[in-house]
Amino acid sequence: MSLETIILAAGKGTRMRSKLPKVLHKVGGKPMLQHVIDAAKKAGSSREVVVIGSGADLVKKAIPNVEFVLQEEQLGTGHAVLSAKENFAESKGTVLILCGDTPLLTSNLLKNFTTAHEDSDCAATVLTAKMPDATGYGRIIRDTDGTFKKIVEDKDANELEKKINEVNAGVYCFDVQKLFGALEKVGNDNSQGEYYLPDVLTILADAGEKIGAFRADYADETLGINSRVQLAAADRIFRMKKNHELMDSGVTIIDPNTTFIDYDAKIGQDTIIYPNTYIEGKTTIGEDCSIGPNIRFTDMKVGNKVTAQFSYCHEAEICDGVTLGPYVHLRPGTTIGENVKIGNFVEVKNSNIGEGSKLPHLQYIGDTDMGSGVNVGCGTTTCNYDGKQKFRTTIGDNAFIGCNTNLVAPVNVGDGAYIGAGSTITKDVPKDNLAIARARQTNIEVWNDKRK
Ligand code: UD1
Ligand code: CA
Repeated sequence: MSLETIILAAGKGTRMRSKLPKVLHKVGGKPMLQHVIDAAKKAGSSREVVVIGSGADLVKKAIPNVEFVLQEEQLGTGHAVLSAKENFAESKGTVLILCGDTPLLTSNLLKNFTTAHEDSDCAATVLTAKMPDATGYGRIIRDTDGTFKKIVEDKDANELEKKINEVNAGVYCFDVQKLFGALEKVGNDNSQGEYYLPDVLTILADAGEKIGAFRADYADETLGINSRVQLAAADRIFRMKKNHELMDSGVTIIDPNTTFIDYDAKIGQDTIIYPNTYIEGKTTIGEDCSIGPNIRFTDMKVGNKVTAQFSYCHEAEICDGVTLGPYVHLRPGTTIGENVKIGNFVEVKNSNIGEGSKLPHLQYIGDTDMGSGVNVGCGTTTCNYDGKQKFRTTIGDNAFIGCNTNLVAPVNVGDGAYIGAGSTITKDVPKDNLAIARARQTNIEVWNDKRK
């Protein structure tokens, strides 16, 4: 079965009060619209047509590998689907319709839903859910025998209808040609003056077609996000699910309530995550690590047996056995080699640190290639920037950099070289040499301070 999908994402999202289009707001670190697209693809969709309008350029930029259709004016969900009519002129069979603001849909639910539709002789099937609080959703009105009758929008519902807690999840399967035939007949005579997609179901039913209503087992998966309060609620549900998945796969999470792990992050077995930790973007963490408390890793690659606490690291790599923190800032382009010890107010940018080197306190290392077994004294700074350009520093294996050294780049320190504390190094230091570059101390034996 080849399944085509239309995803509605043109609305302004007025209730978000945001400059960003609603569907680009993130749940679990990923735009809501991307969640919906990914669920559709995973459920077997072979083509996704996304209807965009408000903030169309921003949406196009943020979302790859889909087809876009422009809905010039946002006149309602029915009108939005109609904008895609041309794109489906050749299509036959079933089209799946989703909204870009239901980020918790799972591929499993969509698979079960489309299969139920395919196995029936319905012209359309709508996904429904029992919502503990149905406010804002379209209500499902059924006949006394339980068959689907119509959907009434919250704003058009009477008091009795408002009490119904079975809602329209905004997910539909349609026979594609019947859908576009009936869409032309949808009017906008309602409280919002909009062309409602759910009205198609009534039009088809009135024409004698069978309409299915398939109820989701878990209402959470169909939550629609219209406000920032609902966004936060969806994010919380998503994060809990992600934490549970990781725990089930062998990761210890000490406090799931204060652990925020993004959609794409991966963590290996027997790693322990301590509280107040953020694992963001495409971060991968190996096995047997101890991460946190208070870690923020963004797009990081972390090996096995790494210990890290109280630090922020982004777009960098930490190899096996590293001890990191407290208070380390790793910036993009950095690789921290195996068994390095780094911590206590250290910043490293665009540098490679060789195996077993030590950067134990108060260093700035930028644009540097450091060998293995190097000891970097407290307070060492690479002076990599002259106000216009950046220059690199190289430090050989087993070099010893005394405390408070300034390495004025470009400069090379050879293997086994030794630098006296307090030196400002402006010239290369050859292999195994000792460099001292500081004023000699003068002691004056008898010192008559005239102020005394
Ligand atoms: C819609 C349904 C409601 C359902 C709920 C589920 C209608 C009329 N109502 O209500 O029955 O319970 O979703 O979450 O369909 N959009 C466009 N163009 C438009 C208007 C909207 O593309 O002109 C898009 C929005 O970007 C959004 C989706 O359609 O992704 C749903 O629109 P929204 O305004 O959020 O509808 P709801 O009021 O939530
Ligand atoms: Ca909505």
